[in-house]
Amino acid sequence: MDIKEIKKDFPILQNNNIAYLDSGATTQKPMQVIKAVEEFYEKYNANPHRGAYTLSMEATEIYENTRTKIAKFINAKHREEIIFSKNATESLNLIAYSYGMDNLKKDDEIVLSIMEHHSNLVPWQKVSRVTGSKLNYMYINENFELSDEEIESKITDKTKIVGITHVSNVLGTINNVKKIIKYAHKKGSIVVVDASQSIPHMKIDVQDLDADFLVFSGHKMLAPLGIGILYGKKEILNKMNPFLMGGDMIEYVYEQETTFAPLPNKFEAGTQNVEGVVGLGAAIDYIENIGYDKIHELEKEVIQYAIQELSKLEYLTLYLTPNLENHSGVISFNIKGIHPHDVASILDLEGVCVRSGNHCAQPLMRFLGIDSTCRASFYFYNTKEDVTRLVKALNKAYDMFKKYIIK
Ligand code: ALA
Repeated sequence: MDIKEIKKDFPILQNNNIAYLDSGATTQKPMQVIKAVEEFYEKYNANPHRGAYTLSMEATEIYENTRTKIAKFINAKHREEIIFSKNATESLNLIAYSYGMDNLKKDDEIVLSIMEHHSNLVPWQKVSRVTGSKLNYMYINENFELSDEEIESKITDKTKIVGITHVSNVLGTINNVKKIIKYAHKKGSIVVVDASQSIPHMKIDVQDLDADFLVFSGHKMLAPLGIGILYGKKEILNKMNPFLMGGDMIEYVYEQETTFAPLPNKFEAGTQNVEGVVGLGAAIDYIENIGYDKIHELEKEVIQYAIQELSKLEYLTLYLTPNLENHSGVISFNIKGIHPHDVASILDLEGVCVRSGNHCAQPLMRFLGIDSTCRASFYFYNTKEDVTRLVKALNKAYDMFKKYIIK
């Protein structure tokens, strides 16, 4: 497949003269996804599960068929193990409230990596405070990776929950979640995997990983904003209490008591984001049509080139593992002595879109001894020309600011 053809699928990349290097925050959307959403509103819009009339039943069919598609996409054993949410953050809050609050007790341990996004960290702080459980961290080594020793010294017989990001949204480090899950299970802990930064780039097989929970957001993998997924093992989800209460998640409601619907409805209160579900279905079709092997090949070429070119800039600090087989998607960097927001503003003037800040990972930043970085994040639609524009814009920013750098 020709990369030029791929770029043509993305209207926003045709309509703007930009190097879009912020796909870690949200990806751009191909025409096929935009059209699928449009078609839903033009032909099928009604509230699923609510009406006995044909249109509502068609909307239900589209909604439920997409659940089956997602189950197949991540190789879930049962389609009802797929719960629609707003985003990965809501999925993680659901796990923390409905599983964490009810199952943890005083002196149990929650173990997180220091790389976690705030959304797989702040909810666990709350669980720890309410239940009296302890919150411990696995720290990274000088290669920005978790060593086996660190994993094995932190996950103990007292650990009941391990929260781990598959790919760090700051460092791009790919964590060996399969190995971590295997070790955690040996110790009797369940594992919550945040796949938000991995699923856009690599095949996820929840049965192969043996993940207890796995979450991701649709908008980071070509789908619309506002749709997320919670995968959970059926036997665990069945035992959990609902998170949000309201319409469609009940069986019988009496004045004082309610019984709840079976999975997956138990966790889907209120009218759902059906256009998001439709868009996510179209995004999965798009990804499967290109294929993860091709996606990997396209990204590898551009990211390796970016690392090579950025490494030549002696004024730049890069935060990434030298083991490139353990790296995916994002490159964080700083111009020594210049604030990342200033750098990002100059890059913006040159049409280069990067994120700057703490990337919702303040504990990681503190651990690294910095408060923020610039981050270029890539997807298969990026090209070497995008990298060239980034390098040129960085040189411009450095030239502009170098006289203010205090050595
Ligand atoms: N979590 C998203 C990011 O890393 C927003 O940019």
